[in-house]
Amino acid sequence: MTTVRDLQAMAGDEPITMLTAYDAVTATLVEAAGVDVVLVGDSMGNAVLGHEDTLPVTVDEVASRVGAVARGTDEALVVADMPFLSFGADEGESVRNCGRMLKEEGANAVKLESGPHTVELTERLADLGIPVMAHLGLTPQSVNQTGYTQQATEREEAAEILELAVAHEEAGAFALVLEHVPANLAAQVTDALSIPTIGIGAGGDCDGQVLVFTDVVGLAESSPPFAEQFGDVRAEVQSAVADYVEAVESGEFPAKQHANTADDLDELY
Ligand code: KIV
Repeated sequence: MTTVRDLQAMAGDEPITMLTAYDAVTATLVEAAGVDVVLVGDSMGNAVLGHEDTLPVTVDEVASRVGAVARGTDEALVVADMPFLSFGADEGESVRNCGRMLKEEGANAVKLESGPHTVELTERLADLGIPVMAHLGLTPQSVNQTGYTQQATEREEAAEILELAVAHEEAGAFALVLEHVPANLAAQVTDALSIPTIGIGAGGDCDGQVLVFTDVVGLAESSPPFAEQFGDVRAEVQSAVADYVEAVESGEFPAKQHANTADDLDELY
């Protein structure tokens, strides 16, 4: 099984691959394709739960899907993305919510959308044996403050990200996601840290890359500008389902091979 130490050993040597998954079937496929880290992202809010953003996602929803993903994987590191307000307001509650993902659902680590308010919590969780992946730059749980635009384009904000990245490494974070920040900032953060950086919309100099599953396979209705579509699953699904509907409506399905008869069941009435 991939451990946080394995990821740290890969940094700078071999690119780390991370992708989201929200159920066991997808997790199995993602792992079989060679992904190192499966993130049960709160992106499930917009990707699969039909919400406008990630804010309504609950701890129970993440927990249920972390359990499914953990059951669908053997090798990949499973990271539970802690949803909006499940951490940060109260330390005890934050620790219990994060701990539940490992203790009850089989996650190997948690991810926290980070800021000055998560430095102490990262230290507390790491002390308790809960590995923390930090997340800086665009943090979608702050959409009401920042929108979805690129972050840290000014020197002051970029310097603050660099400082926070170092603070989270010192607090014990084992990796850092950098989302939608200029590539030259991500490169400097990567240089400054010894823990791996995993970029999304942050250029090619991070130690790894992460994207959202539905964007990668072409299942999403719309995707952010920094995502790349590597398949067209939406079209495949639509065509398969349309063929099924047509086959039922035309009487082509079910055919003889899809059913059998049992002896002595004729003429029951
Ligand atoms: O929720 C998520 O999927 C994420 C990734 C985009 C990093 O946070």
